[in-house]
Amino acid sequence: MKDHFTIDDLDLAGRTVIYRVDINCPLLEETLELANDNRIREMLPTLKEMLARKAKVIILAHQSRPGEWDYIPLDKHARRTSELLGQEVPYVNDLYGEEAHKAIVALRPGAAIMLRNVRDEPGEMEKRSMEEHAGSLLVKELSKLADIYINDAFGAAHRSQCSLIGFQAVLPSSTGRLMEKELKALETVFTSSSHPCIFVLGGAKFSDAIKVVDRVLGQGIADRVIMVGLVANAFLKAKGVALGEKSERNLMKEFTDENIRAASRLMEMYGGRIELPFDVALEVDGARLDVPISDLPSDHPIHDIGIGSARAFVEILRDACTVFMSGPAGKIEIDGFELGTQLLMEAAVVGGSFSVIGGGHTVSAAQRFGCCDRFSYVSTGGGALETYLLGKTLPVVEALKTAYLRETSKR
Ligand code: 3PG
Ligand code: MG
Repeated sequence: MKDHFTIDDLDLAGRTVIYRVDINCPLLEETLELANDNRIREMLPTLKEMLARKAKVIILAHQSRPGEWDYIPLDKHARRTSELLGQEVPYVNDLYGEEAHKAIVALRPGAAIMLRNVRDEPGEMEKRSMEEHAGSLLVKELSKLADIYINDAFGAAHRSQCSLIGFQAVLPSSTGRLMEKELKALETVFTSSSHPCIFVLGGAKFSDAIKVVDRVLGQGIADRVIMVGLVANAFLKAKGVALGEKSERNLMKEFTDENIRAASRLMEMYGGRIELPFDVALEVDGARLDVPISDLPSDHPIHDIGIGSARAFVEILRDACTVFMSGPAGKIEIDGFELGTQLLMEAAVVGGSFSVIGGGHTVSAAQRFGCCDRFSYVSTGGGALETYLLGKTLPVVEALKTAYLRETSKR
C-alpha cells in the first residue's frame, strides 16, 4: 500500500524544491579531491528530471562530520555535479543567511544551486524528533523560501538529523528517484516470492550478523544464509572451532557470551540453512595457503574463505532466484585474498536472478572485479542498509510517511 509520495505525485513546474541528498564521498587524503563520485552520479536522474520539469532546486547535503579530516566544504561536489549534469550548479557558501536567501530568490525554473555543508549548522547532527527539528532556524528559514521537500538521501536514511527529517513536518514531501529505487529493490528482496533466496553475509559485525540471520531465516525471507568473512569465523568459533590466536584476536570485542549463545542457538535451529566455510585461506609469508578447517588452529591469520568453500557456495548461488550480498568474504585489499569475494560475486550475477549488493567495501570490490553493473541493483547505503537489514525503521522514511498522511488527510 502506498505510504509516501514520489515525484510523480508532485507538480514541480516553477516550484522551489529543497532537495536533500547524500553525496558524502570518499576523498583522496593527499589532495582532498573526490576519490569516487558514485553518489553524485546516483542523484543525477532525479536532478535532471526536476530541472526538466522546471523546478527551482536547492541542493542540501553533507560531507563527513565536523572534526574529521575529510570534513570539507561542498564546492568540489558542486563542481563535479555541474560537470556531470552539463549545466552550472553554483555553490553558495551559506545555508539560510543573506547570501543563501539572495541565491534562492534569484533561482530560475530549471536551475539549481548547492548550499554549504549542512553539518556546519549547529544542531544539524542532533538526534531529535521531526517536530523538534521543525523548530530549528534551518527548517524555519529555508522552508519559508521553498514549496516542496524531496529526499534522496538513502545513505543517511538511518539518521534523525535536522535536514533529513525536519522539513517533512512543514512541507509537502516526497522521495526522489534514488530513494524510490533503493526502497523498491530492498522490498523486492525482503518480500520476494522468487525462491530460493540466498543471503551472503560478510564483514566484521558478529552481533549484527546474528540478528540478520535470525530475522531472514526466522521470517522465511531467505532460504539459506552463506556466512563469509569475519562473521563466518565468529560462527565457526562459536561452534567450537579453535582458529588460532591471530584470527581470534580480530573477533575478541564482539565475542561475548551472549553472542556465542545466540549464534549457537541459531545453528541448532537452522543447521543446514546456515552455510559456513569448511576450508579457509591463511596468509603464510605474504602468500595464500588454503587449508581445511580440520587443520586449524593456525599461527597464520585467516584472510579469506577457502577455494573449496567458495566453489560450494558458487553452486548454491547458481540455483538462486534472489541474492542479497553484503560484506566481503576476505581481505580484498590484499592480493590473492579477494578470490572468495570475486567468485561469489561472479556467481551472484549470472543467470536471471534478482541480485542486490550493498555496503561501501562490497560495492568497491564489485567495481574492481568489473561485475558491479551486472547486479540488478547496487545500493548506495552503508549504515542505512545495515539498519534496514536489522528490521529497524529508517527515520527519513518514517518522516516521509508522516508527511504523506498529513497531506492526504487534508484532501
Ligand atoms: C554515510 O556515508 O554513512 C552517510 O552519508 C551518513 O553519514 P554519517 O555516517 O556520518 O552520519
Ligand atoms: Mg556512516
